[in-house]
Amino acid sequence: MTEAGLAHVAHFHPVLLASRLDDARADGRRCPVQAHLLGTDLAIWRDDAGRVHAFDDRCPHRGASLSMGRIEDDRLECAYHGWRFRAGGQCTHVPAVPDWAPPAGHRVQAYLAREAYGLVWVALKPAVAGEPEPPLPAFAAEGDPHLRKVNCGPYDVETSAPRIVENFLDMAHFGYVHEGWLGARDHTALEPYRVTATDTGFIATECRAWQPQSSVQAKAGAMVEYTYEVNAPYTAILTKVPDAATVKVAGFRESIAMFVCPLSPERSRAWIRLAMLDWDSTDAHLQGFQHTIFMQDKPVLESQRPRLLPISPQAPVTELHSAADRASTAYRRYLRESGITFGVC
Ligand code: FES
Ligand code: CO
Repeated sequence: MTEAGLAHVAHFHPVLLASRLDDARADGRRCPVQAHLLGTDLAIWRDDAGRVHAFDDRCPHRGASLSMGRIEDDRLECAYHGWRFRAGGQCTHVPAVPDWAPPAGHRVQAYLAREAYGLVWVALKPAVAGEPEPPLPAFAAEGDPHLRKVNCGPYDVETSAPRIVENFLDMAHFGYVHEGWLGARDHTALEPYRVTATDTGFIATECRAWQPQSSVQAKAGAMVEYTYEVNAPYTAILTKVPDAATVKVAGFRESIAMFVCPLSPERSRAWIRLAMLDWDSTDAHLQGFQHTIFMQDKPVLESQRPRLLPISPQAPVTELHSAADRASTAYRRYLRESGITFGVC
């Protein structure tokens, strides 16, 4: 594995909406679902206790795709010859030789897998007894019962994961890409905002913009104030700072998390998790608004060249900056300092 790959395995990445595991059924039985991460094909499945597992999507017997199989007797069963694999990857049953106990080497590669924020997260490393798992990206709004959680996506984008995160952090495009929604051409000036390093990344505060239609519920244009936080390589969280006059619940904050899966260096899959005060709109209505906004971003994202961020110290200077790009500059510095050089040229 390359040095860049080694930096990536130290992190959990989102790979799948967890609800897909419960939807996937054949003959009334639960089935695994295929996912992809950093060029690796995965078979994701849920055991009878509800825990999620991530296996290499290649049966070690004759190479069939394990995600074509099904869950039988709390094991992942291969669709080709019915070999069964338990959590952790050990083969427990070979139907053509039913009395044989497969040896310890008969196993499929299993990776760390967790479920959180309505998504399955995978770190491309095996579980090692006594070794702590990497942390999941924090999303503080998740635990707030006042906030309703809805996932949007997946959105597949032909670009590197950092380009999507940078776009999410960027308010200077609102008046152009999202004219009439998140911005207006005659309100494009941004006030200076503050960027502060944190233990896990950085936070940008006092980010203010005038928005014609900042959400499904917005009835008129308004000045909005956001904070943006990056606390994992491909996680960015926007928190809306409430207007004091409209605060109904003390300390309330609405948040939106952007979680991006690096499928490969130049292909990504993103989900947005909303934590909103709006309990009246349907899921489809809230998702529709985000879909509209994201579909405005997508063609611009896919047009950007290079697709990898040009931030290696050896790269020629190919992008110019202004004071409005402070969050993007902080993100690039954070990636370099984290050793996440994948997605960089
Ligand atoms: Fe999977 Fe034979 S290829 S059981
Ligand atoms: Co945008």
